[in-house]
Amino acid sequence: MAREINAVGVVGLGTMGAGIVEVFARNGIAVVAVEVTDAALERGRGHLVGSTDRAVAKGRLAPADRDALLGRVGFAVGLDALRDVDLVIEAVPERLDLKRRLFAELDRVCEPTAILATNTSSLSVTEISVATGRPDQVVGVHFFNPAPVMKLVEVVRTVVTAPEVVADVEALCARLGKVGVTIGDRAGFIANALLFGYLNHAVTMYEARYASREDIDAAMKLGCRLPMGPLALLDLIGLDVAYEILDTMYRRGGRDRRHAPAPLLRQMVTAGLLGRKSGRGFYTYD
Ligand code: CAA
Repeated sequence: MAREINAVGVVGLGTMGAGIVEVFARNGIAVVAVEVTDAALERGRGHLVGSTDRAVAKGRLAPADRDALLGRVGFAVGLDALRDVDLVIEAVPERLDLKRRLFAELDRVCEPTAILATNTSSLSVTEISVATGRPDQVVGVHFFNPAPVMKLVEVVRTVVTAPEVVADVEALCARLGKVGVTIGDRAGFIANALLFGYLNHAVTMYEARYASREDIDAAMKLGCRLPMGPLALLDLIGLDVAYEILDTMYRRGGRDRRHAPAPLLRQMVTAGLLGRKSGRGFYTYD
């Protein structure tokens, strides 16, 4: 029988981490939300409050349910607050050294039975797992942006992840109202492996001035019935995140030129044009 997961920790409260906190709290699960500084913690709290306030304003969430949701979330600076959780999901920036250091620390702080999960989108879950003394309890749990809306979770098992851990996480995804797909540990898993060649191609097309950003996006939105065009989607994902994913897939996936990041993407990231979160990417936001 699957183990019931009743208390969860989320480390890193950027766009993905804050969205993941919301998903758990919405579904009645207590969450400890952790950041490294007070300022980062306040930003994360701001994401969560903003998102739930919008839901109330749209009539999708009753004010009392919003209060109950927020009441399930504890905020803390530092990993000590994760001593008693059943599962930790890491959602810190996509840098292998950073994630490996964090997992080594989580291994020391958390109960020996706790599952340690990473929300990485392109790094090797196996390389992260071996930074701990419990690689059999390490798994990838990859949510999509915006986490409260997107139904898919990719559950990534390594060659040493215990089958019970995979089963526990699959059961948890169902409890969260998500659809889990379970796969092995390859760069980009299923969705990003297929998606990012296309997104990169759209940047190349725009960079070559073959078409305007509006026309590229309209073609895919109206011609292929996608909810967003590729350049608008890159702004949503974050151009820094997209660059990291492409670069990692390029290097891990045999240098497939489809994944060689378009030079424009790098220039935009260097210039601080990161998409929605910085107010400007391919488009400008208020
Ligand atoms: N948080 C919470 N809820 C949100 C939200 C957010 N950030 N953004 C939108 N929503 C909700 C809205 O409140 C709305 O809910 P109701 O219908 O219940 O009112 C619903 O989602 C639809 O939103 P909107 O009406 O504002 O706008 P929309 O219909 O254009 O949908 C969208 C917005 C959900 C983002 C949609 O455009 C979409 O699905 N886009 C594609 C997203 C996508 O492909 N994501 C995957 C990116 S790749 C990835 O994440 C992997 C990785 O590793 C990088």
